[in-house]
Amino acid sequence: MRKSKVLSLLLVGMLMMTLFIGCSQPAEPTESPEGEETVAETPEEKIRVGLSLPTQREERWVRDKEKMEEVAAELGIELLVRVSDADMQEQITQVEALLTQGIDVLILAPHDASAAATLVESANREGVPVISYDRLITNTDKLDIYLSFDNVRVGELQGQFITEQVPTGKYIIMSGAPTDNNATLFKAGAMKYIQPLIDSGDIEVIAEQAVDNWVPENALRIVEAALAANNNEVDAILAPNDGTAGAAIQALAAQGLAGEIPITGQDAERAAAKRIVEGTQSMTIFKDTRSLGEAAIEIAIQLAKGDAVSTNGAVDNGTFEVPSVLLDPEVVTADNIRELLVEGGYITEADLQ
Ligand code: BGC
Repeated sequence: MRKSKVLSLLLVGMLMMTLFIGCSQPAEPTESPEGEETVAETPEEKIRVGLSLPTQREERWVRDKEKMEEVAAELGIELLVRVSDADMQEQITQVEALLTQGIDVLILAPHDASAAATLVESANREGVPVISYDRLITNTDKLDIYLSFDNVRVGELQGQFITEQVPTGKYIIMSGAPTDNNATLFKAGAMKYIQPLIDSGDIEVIAEQAVDNWVPENALRIVEAALAANNNEVDAILAPNDGTAGAAIQALAAQGLAGEIPITGQDAERAAAKRIVEGTQSMTIFKDTRSLGEAAIEIAIQLAKGDAVSTNGAVDNGTFEVPSVLLDPEVVTADNIRELLVEGGYITEADLQ
């Protein structure tokens, strides 16, 4: 809020300067067709928003980008988009460059939660508000807004689903990239359901590993190794997203086990939706990137204008409780996939074939 006050003061100052300049250099009067004198209007400056995305590898990030581009165009916002392909050094270079291009607001989905703090500090020095998009930026008190889904809830939905399907047995537990704060939240949510059953001896964890950089090949190796070490005796797999689920299912298929072992996912990717209908993936989590992308541009405009942003929560980033806007995730199974994803226009019937 301090920052928006400074911003308002700056705006008032700039307005006064404009008025002052306006007084000393009167605009040239022009003749209207009717012969009346009018003053030529200068077109209003467009709001300039910088968008930094960590990757386009998962389909969801492609959708986020497309939606933000679409809404920005509709609302007359200039959107400068940069994608860093899971490389933090590249993201730092790109964002530092955006900050020299006079952006009014920065939407930043960090590759590395804590390394991105330096970018928030740089933006703050330039008076540029930052929206932490989908992934939380940790270790900085300069963040303005966190816009995401309720990510602990995402994990709870995965954990609840898999423990209902498989209340006893051997589990492979994978989590997302350790550099992504979401991965921590997803796992914390899922373990609320899984841990009590481990403690009671009902669930035996035969492999528990993070998937570096969310790379599906890493998930493939984890599942292949766990299957080999356990004579294929596996009863359930917690996969943190659809990309890693797809890789795990590939490992299962190689052993003739695809469709035999309940497995979670997340993102409602088209390939995952198809696997759910085929019966090789048990569920996914639908996080409507259309709503998230639209909200991001709307909030960016509010921040650029110095308007208040309404929030519905606060999430601790290790330094402070970040004012947050959190959307609701939903479970997708074979039972509701058409209603939720096809009727909702997120995918088409053809995607399921
Ligand atoms: C996102 C997921 C995505 C994962 C890998 C997470 O931060 O919330 O939707 O699957 O990153 O890109």
